[in-house]
Amino acid sequence: MVRVQVGLLFVVISPMMPEVRLRPIRMSDAEICFRWVTDPEVALHLGLTRPPRSVREERAWIATVLSDPEHLRMFVVEDDNGLPIGTTTLRGIEPGEGIAHFGILIGEKRLWDRGYGTAATRKTLAFAFRELGLREVRLSCYSRNGRALRCYQKAGFEMVGREAPWRPEGGADLKMRVTREAWMAQVEGE
Ligand SMILES: CC(C)(COP(=O)(O)OP(=O)(O)OC[C@H]1O[C@@H](n2cnc3c(N)ncnc32)[C@H](O)[C@@H]1OP(=O)(O)O)[C@@H](O)C(=O)NCCC(=O)NCCS
Repeated sequence: MVRVQVGLLFVVISPMMPEVRLRPIRMSDAEICFRWVTDPEVALHLGLTRPPRSVREERAWIATVLSDPEHLRMFVVEDDNGLPIGTTTLRGIEPGEGIAHFGILIGEKRLWDRGYGTAATRKTLAFAFRELGLREVRLSCYSRNGRALRCYQKAGFEMVGREAPWRPEGGADLKMRVTREAWMAQVEGE
């Protein structure tokens, strides 16, 4: 949000949400995904138990994703020129329960703070609620990842809890969620 003064008036300008497209991940995305997840700045708050050590390991991870579409969906986020800029993930999809866990990275760091994360999160939520018919999407986020928290808040997530710090440097593991009802109300209000 930008506030500019025009004469005696203040005008509030809401930046336009950039256009993004989601497409299912494919094996040929392994190189770029490997570059993103091994970038220390991108990976800092991802909470990966063990980052891939090679493109081959990244391919193995993509093979896992492609083998289990009922419980795991991963998308490549493309900008309006069709260039890959990041990924979003719905993990632990439980069709019976109607719940999934969301994850995101915008690997092209020069694009941070321009609304791409929020746009990609919203597109993924639309998929989760419209296509998969889920009733709730959840996530965990490190309390010191201010950029991600702001992105999730803009996309409609609400805070539902916090867990004790698991990192030596402190902080907390924040739990957020968005329900289908809250998402529908947000979409209808736009
Ligand atoms: C988190 C991430 C997906 C956000 O993507 P993005 O494209 O930068 O997100 P957006 O531009 O839509 O929103 C970022 C918002 O955070 C704000 N922001 C930036 N740094 C911030 C900080 N330190 N504290 C609070 N807000 C901050 C931006 O100003 C912007 O808000 P605004 O539009 O109101 O100005 C991206 O930064 C990323 O991939 N990070 C590395 C991986 C990661 O941390 N993933 C999440 C794990 S939980």
